[in-house]
Amino acid sequence: MEKQEAETVNTTVVILAAGLGTRMKSKQAKVLHRAGGLPLVEHVVRAAKAVASPERIFVVTGHQAEAVEAALSNHGVQFARQTEQKGTGHALAQCAPKASGLDGLLMVLVGDAPLLTAETLVRLRDQQASTGTAGTLISTSVADPTGYGRVVLDDRGDVSAIVEHKACSPEQLKINVINSGIYCMRADLVWNNLKEIVPNPASGEYYLTDIFEILRKQSHRLGAMHLADPNELLGINTRVELAEADTILRARKRRALMLSGVTMEQPESVSIDMDVTIGQDTVLEPHVRLLGTTTIGEDCRIGAGTILDNMAVDGSVTIHPYSVLTQSHISTRAEIGPFARMRANSDVGEGAQVGNFAELKNTKIHAGAKAHHVGYLGDTEIGAKANIGAGTIVCNYDGVMKHKTKIGAGAFIGSNSTLVAPVEIGDDSYVAAGSVITHEVPSDALAFGRAHQTLKHGWVSNRRAKHPKK
Ligand code: UD1
Ligand code: MG
Repeated sequence: MEKQEAETVNTTVVILAAGLGTRMKSKQAKVLHRAGGLPLVEHVVRAAKAVASPERIFVVTGHQAEAVEAALSNHGVQFARQTEQKGTGHALAQCAPKASGLDGLLMVLVGDAPLLTAETLVRLRDQQASTGTAGTLISTSVADPTGYGRVVLDDRGDVSAIVEHKACSPEQLKINVINSGIYCMRADLVWNNLKEIVPNPASGEYYLTDIFEILRKQSHRLGAMHLADPNELLGINTRVELAEADTILRARKRRALMLSGVTMEQPESVSIDMDVTIGQDTVLEPHVRLLGTTTIGEDCRIGAGTILDNMAVDGSVTIHPYSVLTQSHISTRAEIGPFARMRANSDVGEGAQVGNFAELKNTKIHAGAKAHHVGYLGDTEIGAKANIGAGTIVCNYDGVMKHKTKIGAGAFIGSNSTLVAPVEIGDDSYVAAGSVITHEVPSDALAFGRAHQTLKHGWVSNRRAKHPKK
């Protein structure tokens, strides 16, 4: 094959992800463990999309194949099952029925190396396409190469051998240039020669690395692309490495957001999942956690210790410290917390205010309404500019079913009121403090739902006179 223009070359990607990952000491397959809020293998799939369309991305699954395939179901990628883990060469061979007819380049990645960037894969593809060799591997230098395959280079810098750690001579053990296990090769050569790989005599596994020797014996040239920073190639084997990868991914995310105009106070204390988006001039105070697909608009302030999980926050919103908000929407100029709690499906309107120790669940608060202090508002709709007094409780659950409550625009709910759902409070009406409301309150009315106060003048001194202190 002649040298090719990188942009025009078809690339197929195979991601090896069938292994269990014994050293994780986990019931869960290794590639499903999360770093940066995403399963490890999903990072690899996302990077692969920079060089291949989903119908040309194959993930080899084995351990917990169904769960791994389900975790990637949104990506439209292909799967090949490897029921028994007989080595990297055997894993790749499982894709042959669907992939061996695909022309161009074949890139092999591993599902447990989540730090590899799309830019590096593009460089690898371009280097392979422009040199016209049989294949290129990514190499790097590490301080401790124990366990890795060593890359032996010849005089002109071509790869002459990949020697697995266990097969290394004492001299070869000193080589600290290692094989990352990531390759980009001419697809036709791989598929034509894959069946030439024989089980390794020591382990009985089919080593994909053997294909380098097979091709070299056919006088093909093989190259290496050396990465100066070995971090990108970190393969996850233990929970310690999982935590390292998580740290690096989150640092990258923070850096990208800061460069795009987000202010972070004590950034190392801020934890942000990969899919979070944040608008310009928003400020994150220390120890904020932003999870899932949370989106935050411009000019917001997110208070210290706040957790936003799958939230949608419009621009110019202030969230005071230590609020825990989930799966809900907050409109522009609203003010939330400190110590506010929002559970699923709540919606806070423009300029509305939700204060400390207020809990919302499946509740819509229209523009300008206020629930400043302490309370539970569940399955409730609150009209514009209504005022919910301190300690208002909506009793939305009768022990069997949930019921709805509607509070009209401009209504005033006195402190420590109890609204027993289903119930409706009309526009501009008043509920007296301490009321238990069980029936509809029409518009413009005042409802008392509490015992009348009784006064007995002089009761205390009369009593003392009857029962003098001894
Ligand atoms: C491999 C390379 C080694 C390289 C190292 C980098 C071989 C023979 N050796 O060794 O040169 O330095 O990676 O990390 O390839 N997998 C399957 N099915 C299998 C076996 C493995 O899907 O039957 C997957 C694993 O889940 C893993 C990846 O392939 O994600 C690599 O396999 P692993 O067993 O870790 O290979 P190494 O011994 O590390
Ligand atoms: Mg490995």
